[in-house]
Amino acid sequence: MLERIVYQSMATEDFGSLALFQLLTEAQSRNAQLQITGHLLFLNGQFTQCFEGPAESVEQLWQSIQRDKRHKDIELLVRHPTQKRRFPEWSMAFSTQSTFYVHGMKGFFPVDESGKSPLMLHCSID
Ligand SMILES: Cc1cc2nc3c(=O)[nH]c(=O)nc-3n(C[C@H](O)[C@H](O)[C@H](O)COP(=O)(O)O)c2cc1C
Repeated sequence: MLERIVYQSMATEDFGSLALFQLLTEAQSRNAQLQITGHLLFLNGQFTQCFEGPAESVEQLWQSIQRDKRHKDIELLVRHPTQKRRFPEWSMAFSTQSTFYVHGMKGFFPVDESGKSPLMLHCSID
């Protein structure tokens, strides 16, 4: 069975491009092992992340994420079983302002002036 989680949190550190790049590359490699796919949005110090995968992997990652001191005020928005992945091709796609782009960052989708990214359409809370 597949499961999906969507949560929001606030960064506790001043994340720059390199810190985000590091977080993302580690997340993508661990997610590939756990068969997790998803999307992470970072805007104005706030994270919104959607991730999905086998229920045991989702639980394992959720425990890790909640322990992580790099963010706080973690609020679970959605947790439910699902039949179909929303991000089948991304071990963790990433969206933020285009100025954060680091060369070689996989799955980067910059947000536009209104704060929207093409991938956010998939992130609705249903
Ligand atoms: C906003 C945010 C999103 C994260 N997303 C992921 C993720 O998708 N996959 C992942 O393996 N780690 C992610 N991490 C890192 C985990 O919280 C954790 O540091 C890492 O999985 C190592 O887990 P461990 O402390 O249980 O060994 C994220 C951290 C933050 C702050």
